[in-house]
Amino acid sequence: MQNKEVYDELVAKFEAKYGAKPEVVAYAPGRIEVLGNHTDYNEGYVFSAAIDKGTFFAASKSAGTDCELTAADLMETAAFDLSSVKPAKEMTWQNYVTGTFNWLFDGEPAKAGKGWKGMFLGNIPLGAGLSSSAALEMCTALALCKLYGIEKDKTTLAKIGQKAEHTFAGCPCGLLDQASSMYGKEGSLVKSDFRFNTFENVDMGEGVAFMMVKSNAKHALVDGAYASRRQACEDAAKFFAGVLRGKKVTHLRDVTMAEWVLYRGGLAETTAKRAVHPIGEDERVLQGAELLSKGDLAGFGALMYDSHESSRNWFENSCDELDTIVDAAKAIPEVYGARLSGGGFGGSCCLLVDPSAAGKIAAAITKEYKAKYGDEPVCSLIKPSEGAHLV
Ligand code: GLA
Repeated sequence: MQNKEVYDELVAKFEAKYGAKPEVVAYAPGRIEVLGNHTDYNEGYVFSAAIDKGTFFAASKSAGTDCELTAADLMETAAFDLSSVKPAKEMTWQNYVTGTFNWLFDGEPAKAGKGWKGMFLGNIPLGAGLSSSAALEMCTALALCKLYGIEKDKTTLAKIGQKAEHTFAGCPCGLLDQASSMYGKEGSLVKSDFRFNTFENVDMGEGVAFMMVKSNAKHALVDGAYASRRQACEDAAKFFAGVLRGKKVTHLRDVTMAEWVLYRGGLAETTAKRAVHPIGEDERVLQGAELLSKGDLAGFGALMYDSHESSRNWFENSCDELDTIVDAAKAIPEVYGARLSGGGFGGSCCLLVDPSAAGKIAAAITKEYKAKYGDEPVCSLIKPSEGAHLV
């Protein structure tokens, strides 16, 4: 479904349920992660982009302190009061919205005074690693800010969404997904620096696009694998802070590859393997920025392949399905580079491609994948697009 159709369906369903049009509607896109994997919570760098698919959130204020939230695709409704906003164990989709609402009011949603009726609908494929949950948080944040006359900058809203993930949804994510959704720009990548939370739009240039290839492997970040990777990175940063005297180390951002090589023997083997991934990724993003500024797509693409190798060998957040897609991509001349995108352990690969060969690329990858797994991956061309906004 196109965005316009999603919007029309949502507004129609809202009107049918509440007898009036919503007072506010906001939109927020999903994201692709292009280079820089698991660097965000290590205070490093990432290239990402907002995609042309997203989620709409429509809302009006209620007369009392009651709130009602409907997932318009399921037509499931959760009802609660301002005094009882807390993480839900059933219909857990509501946690992204209620968590965001909770932290928009600093954890005291009763301060809102009046409740709201909200409904959301989107077109981001679920479980694809395209950050549908961050999109939901960001459109909720924008819509509720408008509804309650709250003014907050984009980074603050992104952090509110992240806090909802941590405290309501149970995923200890970094800030990448929310920030990419907020700071996306048509035709541009978002280059993020998560130490200073600066977000720069970098023009992609002509004749190049992304293709997302969704594997059918499960992608779930709340089952512990993501958290254990993050923990290993934090443990490694503590170790380096101890051995690199005279240098301030708070995160793996502060550690160079040469230092890792020199001191890795002091770390448990698995911790050392985890640590080298974000260290290498930071270097690749900085190199990639230079290559991109010279229009060197092949060079940038080679870094994407290196990134995937690092995921596969060191961080161990790839899986057989994603490896199959990347290996198939390598054999296609019109693909510049490919890697897993986002948390990993399933989900999608992001390919940098010549869009005029999209059909050929999709067919070749589908053939390889199908021969191995019997089913087909979903290939879609992605246009870097505008970030979250009110509609
Ligand atoms: C998920 C998380 C992000 C980021 C990526 C990996 O998408 O939500 O914060 O850590 O994984 O780069």
